[in-house]
Amino acid sequence: MIIEGGNALEGRIRVSGAKNAALPCLAAALLTEEPVTLSNLPAVADIRTMVKVLQALGTGAELTPSAEGFELTAALRCDQPSEHKAPYELVKTMRASVLVLGPLLARFGQATVSLPGGCAIGARPVNLHLEALGRMGARLDIQHGYILGSVPLNEKGQPRLKAIDHTFDMVSVGATENLLMAAALAEGTTIIRNAAQEPEIGDLARLLVKMGARIEGIDTATLTVEGVDRLHGAEHAVIPDRIEAGTYLCAVAAAGGDVVLERVAPDHVRSLLELLERAGCAITERIGQDGPQIRIIRERGQKLRSKDAKTVPFPGFPTDLQAQFMAVMTTAHGISVISEHIFENRFQHAMELERLGANLRIDGPTAIVAGPAPLTGCTVMATDLRASAALVIAGLVAEGKTTVDRIYHLDRGYAGLEKKLQAVGARIERVGGGRV
Ligand code: EPZ
Repeated sequence: MIIEGGNALEGRIRVSGAKNAALPCLAAALLTEEPVTLSNLPAVADIRTMVKVLQALGTGAELTPSAEGFELTAALRCDQPSEHKAPYELVKTMRASVLVLGPLLARFGQATVSLPGGCAIGARPVNLHLEALGRMGARLDIQHGYILGSVPLNEKGQPRLKAIDHTFDMVSVGATENLLMAAALAEGTTIIRNAAQEPEIGDLARLLVKMGARIEGIDTATLTVEGVDRLHGAEHAVIPDRIEAGTYLCAVAAAGGDVVLERVAPDHVRSLLELLERAGCAITERIGQDGPQIRIIRERGQKLRSKDAKTVPFPGFPTDLQAQFMAVMTTAHGISVISEHIFENRFQHAMELERLGANLRIDGPTAIVAGPAPLTGCTVMATDLRASAALVIAGLVAEGKTTVDRIYHLDRGYAGLEKKLQAVGARIERVGGGRV
């Protein structure tokens, strides 16, 4: 991706559906033999990977792109027999594949799912998923790199997970999702305490309710799930992507301009909106024809003030916006202290931002950014999805040409990033690397 920095951004950007809501919703299609139709899925590589995982598990899947190609609709039907195996070749490219474990055990009583392995942003074990499913009665072994799961038969001769009252030791988005899906088909009433409250979990819960699940406490830290014998088909449109929205808000804050984000959920990006407002951006919300909108203005020449940020579970400031916010803070006046409390190795963008001229230091989980730094373009390397987005934002500000390498990371999670930015006046061009 080649970016010629210096242009302010003006216009409108339509936010796509949330990748991290779409992924568990796709996994939930395994819970029924009836058709499940999911719309507003972002057209990104991770969605296609999850669809391949479902296909490997015997799901019929048809993907239809929207008119501009930024969204997909998936027609899914998991009614074919299969060996219930999520292979290493797919799981290693996307950790969220482990979300099929709960649904497979709950519906078929059998699952073979590759352990995800290492990750660029932290260790990311799946012990919380395994502990919870194990407590529901699943027998789980690790052999040859795979989680082998089976569920003992109940008195009716059926493999059924049993309800539990479970308190997570720490807040985990994925483990909450896996347990929620498993509990929907378990015997009895499961209580999930210290559940993650990210909006993506609420979205999954709402899809499950449409499929016939009985869930109370949606969007809170305690979910009560009364298991049912079977779930049925449903249609569902996933929520807007709060991290994509946040990324464009950060882009305007850093580069300056006046942009309206369309089809966004303002409450899902509240922590960022408050920070950017306190930093000096003008932010307004209104209801447009197509749903809520956010307008962000940062006048040319207007100084941004440095602000501190600390990543915590929702509704606090999200780890998935930490890198992008750091890019903004390199352009702000003063010292910003950014601390990362979710993943232990999520500052890889910092060294690349330094190559662009940022003045920063890393001390354990804390980054100290002194601004404003005169950024100048160079070649930088993307290390993960959000780190790549931060480098693009810095490139929009930097004087001259910035080349962001390894943009396949961006393609995993941003639908039409360069097209959406071009439409608001950014000089950004894809010169290599495959598109999704
Ligand atoms: C989800 O990952 C998101 N992915 C991540 O988005 C996001 O960064 C993360 O939640 C935190 O918000 C999807 O939704 C597909 P966690 P997840 O379990 O579920 C530890 C992006 O850029 N942990 O909430 O894997 C873990 O190591 C990404 O789109 C355990 O120790 O995150 C981490 O420190 C990347 N044991 C913390 O919990 C476990 O069994 C939170 O992780 C599970 C997690």
